[in-house]
Amino acid sequence: MASQLRLRDLLASLANSDCDFVVIGSSALVLQGWDVVPSDLDLFVPSDEVDGIRQLLEVGEHQAVWVRDGEARRVEVETDRGPVDLYLDVSGDLTYERVERDAVAVMIGADELSVKVGSLAHVRDMRAAVGRPPVPADAVRPAEKGGAPRVVAIDGPAGAGKSTVTRSVARSLGFTYLDTGAMYRSVTLVVLEQRADPDDHARIGEIADSTEIDFDGERVLIGHRDVTSLIRSAEVTKATPHIAAYPEVRAAMVKRQRQLFSQGGYVAEGRDTGTVVAPDAPLKIYLTATPEERARRRSLETHELLADVLAAIEERDRLDSVRELSALKPAKDAVVLDTTGRSIDEVVEEIVKLARDRGIV
Ligand code: C5P
Repeated sequence: MASQLRLRDLLASLANSDCDFVVIGSSALVLQGWDVVPSDLDLFVPSDEVDGIRQLLEVGEHQAVWVRDGEARRVEVETDRGPVDLYLDVSGDLTYERVERDAVAVMIGADELSVKVGSLAHVRDMRAAVGRPPVPADAVRPAEKGGAPRVVAIDGPAGAGKSTVTRSVARSLGFTYLDTGAMYRSVTLVVLEQRADPDDHARIGEIADSTEIDFDGERVLIGHRDVTSLIRSAEVTKATPHIAAYPEVRAAMVKRQRQLFSQGGYVAEGRDTGTVVAPDAPLKIYLTATPEERARRRSLETHELLADVLAAIEERDRLDSVRELSALKPAKDAVVLDTTGRSIDEVVEEIVKLARDRGIV
């Protein structure tokens, strides 16, 4: 995908700069905790308004504007020079010619202004310049909604014991269990059933938006159809990390998960719950175990050959860890629990105690 190449180029440039903040598009903002209507924060300004803005910024056509470091920090990206906060739309027509110290280039085209790079202060100024309120009416930082949601986030790689542990913790706390993996699996099932073209991001995004996923006790439903076993097939398991890497799919799932979490009282298992979906969750657990142990558990469960399961788990870990969006990693403030050689009960007890100690229940 061309946009990914551009992102890589940009990251390479950032490695040599002191730039702290770059806006990478509305979907990144949504993903990172800004519940905004994407088109509201995107400054796709109609051509008749562009002149005024160009004057304001004192730039001519196709000229770069250098925007100073912003005030907000949302996404952290590891670069060679350390972590950089990054939001940037790589799907638009921006050309990042260069990135300089403390600043980022914003390109202004002949009749379209696609500013998505810079500080939020800058975004506010730009909005004011086109007569919009400085902050979108519906832009809300989750933290400002009245405290952190009562959510326990349990993330980690496949086979670390997440499902059993998460269910059990939910039961002990009297919270609702949410299996976010089942959501990504359900979207993948529909993509496979409809034989959607994997290059057709719009179509896959549509499927993610329109697939009605429900949980009914142990059952997973798409509409009224029980897909509990279908989503666990080897084919779906193999394809899910690929589908889960689509920004459109992640945006749709993250949005739904946040809607559920906003009610509070959830214990959720996933890959990015603590890092992306609920960064304000008062308890984040990263559950892990050695690949061999994880493969051994899975193989006992599924009766597949241990070597095959190990290879599949390692491949899934790799895909989940290298993707650009919401890569599998512990949140900075997560409690990392290695379950190798430990019993489920022991792990559950530890998490429940942490939840009690933190006043979540
Ligand atoms: O947890 P489970 O094994 O059911 O997840 C299936 C796949 O769904 C994972 O390998 C991962 O690619 C994807 N997933 C994800 N983000 C989540 C949960 C699952 O990308 N929060």
